[in-house]
Amino acid sequence: MTDRFPHKGISNRKEAHIDICCQQTEKILMKRSNGFEDIEFVHNAFPEINFAEISLKTTFLGHTFNYPVFISSITGGMEKGLKINKLLAQVAEDFGIGLGAGSQRIALEDESKQESFTILRATAPHAFIAANLGIVQFNKGYGIKEAKRAIEMLEADALILHTNPLQEAIQPEGDFEFKGLLQKIKGLTKAVDKPIIIKEVGAGISFEVAKKLIASNVAAIEVAGAGGTSWAAIEGLRAAQRHELLKQETGAHFRNWGIPTAISTIEVLSATQGQCEIISSGGIRTGIEAAKALALGAKLVGVALPVACLAATKTEKELKAWLNQFIYELKVTMFILGAKNLEALKTAPILITGKTKDWLLTRGIDLPKQVQI
Ligand SMILES: Cc1cc2nc3c(=O)[nH]c(=O)nc-3n(C[C@H](O)[C@H](O)[C@H](O)COP(=O)(O)O)c2cc1C
Repeated sequence: MTDRFPHKGISNRKEAHIDICCQQTEKILMKRSNGFEDIEFVHNAFPEINFAEISLKTTFLGHTFNYPVFISSITGGMEKGLKINKLLAQVAEDFGIGLGAGSQRIALEDESKQESFTILRATAPHAFIAANLGIVQFNKGYGIKEAKRAIEMLEADALILHTNPLQEAIQPEGDFEFKGLLQKIKGLTKAVDKPIIIKEVGAGISFEVAKKLIASNVAAIEVAGAGGTSWAAIEGLRAAQRHELLKQETGAHFRNWGIPTAISTIEVLSATQGQCEIISSGGIRTGIEAAKALALGAKLVGVALPVACLAATKTEKELKAWLNQFIYELKVTMFILGAKNLEALKTAPILITGKTKDWLLTRGIDLPKQVQI
């Protein structure tokens, strides 16, 4: 078992991820949209509600959220991770929203790296916190024990397992053994007493995959679709730093790969039909886009890159200002649609146009009932 716990270099890789994301942002954003421009609300000039009566409260996996917002999994395990995670946890606690830890592999393999993860629960005793591990590790020696340890480390409310075959294929140190993982998820959902959430990292989840995940009894799916951060581009840039031309070029060519978030959200909603909860994420940057995802039926919307870089390079005040803006836009959208809560938002008429319409019709995906095309 020589490669059971190969953790050397993970900390440097985490540093490089944050640096590349925040210093070379233009190079790592996808040059394709998340698809939400194809989802249109019909403006209501007489909303017949008062702004003050709008509530954004919701529940996710039995936990109450003040706002339907999730800080998607980001980081931990290196020096900068402590500051970033402390800030993110503070914001999650103060706003009453949820947060996903970054991959905890590094902290499972080296206990001295745990502090930047345990700071999450220490700072946010009441917030919904999800632990995080890469699913591919379960083909490399991880099992129920590691899943439980990741949860215990954070006194987590759930465990996120991220699937990232494209990222692994381009990452210089990538792991390629993805065979048999769905079966392993089934075993984990049985053995672990916290809900299991499956997420991508920016290439999205399809109808077919969502069906298989339901059969594996997952509690929630975070779609992490295309249109925002490109992990192919990030790993391609890391490959370039190491003069690994094959992966550098591949990363560039796959920069825009994936199912756009709006489409992935609809595919997953259609496949799961309420059997699990959905987080829509991947390039969601405004409260208007958030409103569209929630109106389609997502329980929460997730954001990673903007909050990651604010936490890494700015102050708590600036991070909170960004979130306040995001939430205000969501509330304004609900106001002008006459929706005083998130249930009412789901009854607002929606039009689907353009490429998203073509995609969904071609694939024969059932649409949410308030949708007109
Ligand atoms: C700096 C950074 C680190 C990330 N690390 C992880 C991780 O450890 N585990 C994971 O599941 N996703 C990770 N992600 C992926 C995000 O959770 C998210 O799915 C993806 O970036 C797409 O969302 P976005 O466009 O809002 O950034 C990371 C994202 C960023 C920006």
